[in-house]
Amino acid sequence: MQLMLSAPGTSTTIDGRSYLYFGGTGYLGLQCHPQVIEAACEATRRWGVGSATNRGGWGTTPPVQEVEHRAAQFWQCDDAYYFASGYSCNHILLSAIHRSVDMLFVDEFAHFSIEDACRFFRLPIVRFRHRDAMALSESLGEHLPPGAVPLVFSDGVFASRGSLAPVQQYLEVLQVYDHAALCLDDCHAVGVLGTRGWGTYEHFGLDTAQVNDLPLSSAAPRLFATGTLSKAFGGHGGIVYGSTRFIHAARDGSDYFRGASAPATPAAAASAMGLQLVTENPEIVYRLQRNAKYLRAGLRSLGLEVDSSPVPFVGITLGDGANMARLQQSLASDQILVAHSRCYSGLDADGALRIAVFATHTTEMIDQLLTALAKHL
Ligand SMILES: Cc1ncc(COP(=O)(O)O)c(C=O)c1O
Repeated sequence: MQLMLSAPGTSTTIDGRSYLYFGGTGYLGLQCHPQVIEAACEATRRWGVGSATNRGGWGTTPPVQEVEHRAAQFWQCDDAYYFASGYSCNHILLSAIHRSVDMLFVDEFAHFSIEDACRFFRLPIVRFRHRDAMALSESLGEHLPPGAVPLVFSDGVFASRGSLAPVQQYLEVLQVYDHAALCLDDCHAVGVLGTRGWGTYEHFGLDTAQVNDLPLSSAAPRLFATGTLSKAFGGHGGIVYGSTRFIHAARDGSDYFRGASAPATPAAAASAMGLQLVTENPEIVYRLQRNAKYLRAGLRSLGLEVDSSPVPFVGITLGDGANMARLQQSLASDQILVAHSRCYSGLDADGALRIAVFATHTTEMIDQLLTALAKHL
């Protein structure tokens, strides 16, 4: 196992060697932001590492409360619910809404956390072809009993490839199913997509005021999304945001609020600071999107098949696993680190070369990566 010996940033030390780093998910470069680090240190001094009790009791420390306040402010909604792990976000979402649906339709390459969450609720699950609205439509026609309510679950941005769910096509398909729900795991989209960094729905220009509410008055498809503060926002832990009644259902519907310890205090303080920094400096999201476009255009100029979305990472297949391992090693010997991801959601054993860009990379840094890649391809 290799050890990360610095905070992840554009320069990251792994096993004693410093790299120009294009790995992981610290998209806004906030993990090593001095205010994020200081917030965590100060909170630890004042309130300790954790409350050692659950949120239903006395476990809500001021930083935990602050995260929920900051998240509601960021997404301009009523309230938010913060919990210890982004991995739990899909479970918590389903806890809030599973009684209002009859059958789950899940992208075949959905993230492990979606799969785990869906299995837990023991509703019938149908998997449909990856990012294929036509296949979803056929699955619905074939499997959904008349009058039953479907829930479609997908990653908003897929963790391995950086591709987007075809949200508008899914919504067209769902129009004919009253009260259908579309759920997006937006862990790689929050703080990243849309002009305000609100995520995939904002990117596609949808009315985000309707995300994460529980209205059954209208038959139109309902929109839901989950997120994490461990990636773009530089902190740690999962988040759902939305209307008061939705957040109430999310807190009440699962045992996380009552049964598990509250999120650790330094994680909460760092997350609150991450949210504050992005709320107060929205241009950081623009910088990330500009870098994403620059990286993607650069990769295309090397002859690679990469689309022009603002997602700040790509997972590309370049020959077989051995070739990608060679490329990864060659770049590492030039002190440039990208990941060779294998056996992750949506990847086979050969895997993909996963290249992530941050808001804090300079154009020169991205050029350095592209030059090295051109040399080793
Ligand atoms: C799509 C997706 N959902 C959920 C998670 C879990 O988030 P966290 O790492 O914050 O627990 C990940 C983590 O990589 C992810 O890629």
